[in-house]
Amino acid sequence: MRRYPIAVQSAALLVAVLLIPASLGLACRTPERHEPAPVPSSRPVTVSAMMHAHFAATRDIHRALIVDDLVTAKARAREVAQMPDRTGSSEWDRSARLLRAQAGRLASAPDANQARSLATQMATFCADCHMFRADPGVFRPVPIPSDDGSVRAAMARHAWGAETMWLGVIAPSTDLWREGMRELASAPRVEVEGNRARDVAILNARLGALATSWNLLGGQGDRARRLAEVLDVCAACHAISR
Ligand code: HEC
Ligand code: HEC
Repeated sequence: MRRYPIAVQSAALLVAVLLIPASLGLACRTPERHEPAPVPSSRPVTVSAMMHAHFAATRDIHRALIVDDLVTAKARAREVAQMPDRTGSSEWDRSARLLRAQAGRLASAPDANQARSLATQMATFCADCHMFRADPGVFRPVPIPSDDGSVRAAMARHAWGAETMWLGVIAPSTDLWREGMRELASAPRVEVEGNRARDVAILNARLGALATSWNLLGGQGDRARRLAEVLDVCAACHAISR
């Protein structure tokens, strides 16, 4: 356990959040590890480009929601809701329509809590399509960030865990889901000083409990709910420790 003065943390958080995309990119940010799968000729040529757009938008939504940034999350959701669908099979269009409808609901979420629930559900709509049409090998996280003992590194590992769980829902992949949980369970915790110390300790304990209930692997819906609960804890601690 580590202690950091609140003042230092609060100053650094916003800057830090802006820097994460560079340090913590997942699949789409690592072309050397993650070459886009070739698009079969029967499919519209824009599938891969569109998937990268989906991915970037949902990653931004996920990252915005761990700091209660509802404005960014809703704006990006609106983009997903309005993405044009090139028409392929009617089955394809149906999956796309369901996803767009869910993104629309997210775009008008009344608060960050409901947005987290809608966003993690949205990931199951991505999965519904991938399950039949995408090679699971295309969904790969970057390596786990190394731990240099800083609070920043501790949070990078929290973020890696949560994003890998999220990727596990999108793919869908039980291995990724489990890897993310395992990382979240073992990531170094951050404590704060002062009158928030107790609340922060309670949130750390809650996160540990959520990440270690191995028996709750469940179905896609259960995983989405579990991930929303995890993100609720991230956001709750950021709200009081910033
Ligand atoms: C016990 C409190 C606590 C919990 C729980 C928590 N965080 Fe944090 N987090 C912090 C604090 C404090 C900072 C500010 C760190 C700083 O200023 O360097 C922070 C910063 C961050 C940052 C910016 C990090 C950076 O690069 O410096 C990310 C990303 C992050 N947290 C992700 C998460 C995720 C994802 C979760 C949930 C899985 C989570 N955190 C849970 C306290 C917490
Ligand atoms: C209508 C079906 C469908 C929906 C809905 C869908 N995807 Fe995909 N996705 C695919 C297919 C098919 C592939 C495999 C790509 C290929 O064959 O080029 C894929 C691949 C991907 C890839 C790997 C791309 C690459 O080639 O590197 C990512 C990332 C991705 N999807 C993200 C998402 C996200 C995030 C969502 C939800 C917001 C989503 N997708 C929703 C069909 C879909």
